[in-house]
Amino acid sequence: MKRILSYVRPYAGWLFASVFLMALAGGAQGLIAYLIKPIFDQVLNPQGTDSVVSGVMLVVVAAFLLRGVADYFGNYLVNRAGISAVTDLRQAVFERVLRQDAQFFETTSTGRLMSSIMNDIDKIQVATSHILADWLRQTFVAVSLLFVIFQTSWKLALFSVTVIPIVMLPTAQLGRRIRRSTRKAQDDTAEVNQILQETLSGHQVVKSFGSEVMESARFREAGRRLRRSNLKYVMQQAIASPLIEFMGALTIVGLLIYARSEIRTGVMTTGEFTSFVVTLLLLYEPMKRLVGIHNIFQQALGASQKVFEYLDRPTTVEPGRVTVKGFTREIAIEHLTFRYPTSEGPVLTDLSLRVKAGEIVALVGPSGAGKSTLASLLPRFYDPESGGIEIDGVNVRELTLESLRKLIGTVAQDTFLFNDTVANNLRYGRPEASEGEVREAARNALALEFIEELPQGFETMIGERGTRLSGGQRQRISIARALLKNAPILVLDEATSHLDTESEVLVQGALGNLMQGRTVIVIAHRLSTVRRADRIVVLEKGRIVETGRHEELVGAGGMYQRLYELQFSEGVDS
Ligand SMILES: Nc1ncnc2c1ncn2[C@@H]1O[C@H](COP(=O)(O)OP(=O)(O)OP(=O)(O)O)[C@@H](O)[C@H]1O
Ligand SMILES: [Mg+2]
Repeated sequence: MKRILSYVRPYAGWLFASVFLMALAGGAQGLIAYLIKPIFDQVLNPQGTDSVVSGVMLVVVAAFLLRGVADYFGNYLVNRAGISAVTDLRQAVFERVLRQDAQFFETTSTGRLMSSIMNDIDKIQVATSHILADWLRQTFVAVSLLFVIFQTSWKLALFSVTVIPIVMLPTAQLGRRIRRSTRKAQDDTAEVNQILQETLSGHQVVKSFGSEVMESARFREAGRRLRRSNLKYVMQQAIASPLIEFMGALTIVGLLIYARSEIRTGVMTTGEFTSFVVTLLLLYEPMKRLVGIHNIFQQALGASQKVFEYLDRPTTVEPGRVTVKGFTREIAIEHLTFRYPTSEGPVLTDLSLRVKAGEIVALVGPSGAGKSTLASLLPRFYDPESGGIEIDGVNVRELTLESLRKLIGTVAQDTFLFNDTVANNLRYGRPEASEGEVREAARNALALEFIEELPQGFETMIGERGTRLSGGQRQRISIARALLKNAPILVLDEATSHLDTESEVLVQGALGNLMQGRTVIVIAHRLSTVRRADRIVVLEKGRIVETGRHEELVGAGGMYQRLYELQFSEGVDS
């Protein structure tokens, strides 16, 4: 609660103004209740004096006007504060999540994350804007009405007020339960979201495996669970009002019995009693609302737990403070041992490798040898268990993540493009690139020709993940994107998927242009790439087993020769 309020603090000015206005509106409501007595005893009394009657009328009009205006502006201001605060909170969660390490994204599903960032924060938004407004309003109304009933008859008031805690007791209990079932309902919503997100983005896989029925069943099951937990929480929430209403009825019956004797003995006028009962009835509404609000606050607290968990989760990759400008000498990997948090043994074991500036090093090895893993340690997607990586003599842990990652351009095994224009996808690493530079990069990536044939050229939207392009075109776009980023170190993870020969030649040509004048670590699956390398490093089960040039290794009778015969030979000298 305190934490949510800390996001409201920057908007405290609006909030205080709103509190003041709500207090004014509450006071006006009390005044209206207070006027019931003179209305009965003066206005509706044939002996009432004219000046008092018209005075009462005037005050009635003024009180309603004041209440309306104060309520309107108070409501506006508190919502403004709440909605602004929640916008900030959502932004903070988004930024935090974006900075999480690879491990976080491996263990948290996208659907769940999206559900949390949208739905949970929405719940907090409702609590901090609408509900906060209502809470303020009803509290002030309740206070001023309480004042009026104590004024009218403190004995009666005391009697009715003792009943309130009895009403509150079971509802407080209920609040705790509601919080629990809200949490459950939110988890179930997240599950539905996750299935939705997965099957929609994987719709091709779903269709090609004909698993629509299976996915429907999975979705139905999750939907059932969500329905059950939603119903549970709706029912828990719905019981709160009738509970209070029933207690209220009991109170009124008690009051009537007491008032009968008071009026008979002349201690009280009918006007006073009417005023009292009407005020009490008026008081019932804010009381009911306040309890309802309490429940909604409980929900928001349940939702905020998850949100704050994301905010508080420490990142395992701690950024350093040194800024590097360029890369001139060498990358030194020293006695590096690494394991994924979930993996049993080490994936890379005591691995040492030096790459000189300007060198092209090809990593080869069987599937699962740890090639992609090694490549992901360079930009610090993970940190090694022992040993380390130095760039120009500085350990990568000491560098700021921003400057480190600026040094490294990557073309990943599977390309991810954004649903945006071709030009914006190319500019992703360097938004300030000029139109000429974008064209130049496209030309060097051998992509210019097909881009110009697209309906709107560089301004064509390429569809989600670039689905409107062919595989080879997507790869050339991602090569052009890396070209434009113009980083001195290049990490290439060659796609293993086979392109047709023509695309293959184009992609190879584009990669050749990309490698020029850079330091390259390339995970090679093709003979032409291996041949271009200055050095080949053969990885097996996380260890380097051979290094050398193609000509040296091809007849050496080791791992490389076996790989060569299995993997590269079909392409022999095309
Ligand atoms: N995120 C991860 N969490 C846990 N284990 C992983 C993760 N990524 C890879 N591994 C494991 O680490 C080992 C090395 O995987 P890696 O992706 O580096 O292989 P690779 O050499 O790139 O293979 P390929 O040629 O098939 O791309 C594998 O045994 C794999 O199961
Ligand atoms: Mg790989």
